[in-house]
Amino acid sequence: MRRCLIAANWKMHGNVPSIQAYLETLIERVGSDDPEVVVCPPFTFLPVALLIASGSGIAIGSQNCHWEEKGAFTGEVSATMLAELGARWVIVGHSERRQHFGETDASAAARAKAAQRAGLSVIFCVGETLEQRDSGETLAVLERQSAAVAGLDPALLAVAYEPVWAIGTGRNATPAQAQEAHATLRRRAAELLGAEAAGALRILYGGSVKPNNAVSLLAESDVDGALVGGASLDVEGFCAIIHAAPGHRPGV
Ligand code: 13P
Repeated sequence: MRRCLIAANWKMHGNVPSIQAYLETLIERVGSDDPEVVVCPPFTFLPVALLIASGSGIAIGSQNCHWEEKGAFTGEVSATMLAELGARWVIVGHSERRQHFGETDASAAARAKAAQRAGLSVIFCVGETLEQRDSGETLAVLERQSAAVAGLDPALLAVAYEPVWAIGTGRNATPAQAQEAHATLRRRAAELLGAEAAGALRILYGGSVKPNNAVSLLAESDVDGALVGGASLDVEGFCAIIHAAPGHRPGV
């Protein structure tokens, strides 16, 4: 069985006064039969989020980490530092990092390896642009981007399929498009990690997930959860998405 995983990526949003009420509501609403829940706020909110979520079933993650443990990298935060704080997850290779901050397949792979070395679980993001989809390159792009998982520990890994054209646009992939991409990613994971690890791997969908489309996306057999941006900022909406997911889904 794969336990579904619903992750909130707050991106560069949030403020200290609202975090307590948000997390307290989440802690109260999420039960042990529900999917696993991870909240990824900006770096500066991690200590307070970790304090509030301590001892609860809600895990806290970061949105990025550097690939070195320490050094002259102004403005960066290492995976070791995040692990020391108590963070359990890190999002790596998000398309906004690829688009705006020069993230490459190689740098994303290096960050993911460093995160796992520090004991963090990784949500490794892949996804095609609209141009790539329109020119029929989607599955090839996913195969290329997901090559990075070859060097990773499957026990500390989830993959997120986030089509770039669906992020923040209100235009989600259809359940069939998501299922096709996820099945490709699982086949690829089987080649790279072995069939057993691929069967247990959680593959999340991200891109305009909302309470009103979560049920149909999460009904697909290879969609094991969601990485939620905008809709995760409202705790009621995020809870609705969590409760749209089955707690577990049969592994392959
Ligand atoms: P939206 O849910 O706002 O489209 O963002 C998706 C995303 O990028 C999550 O990482």
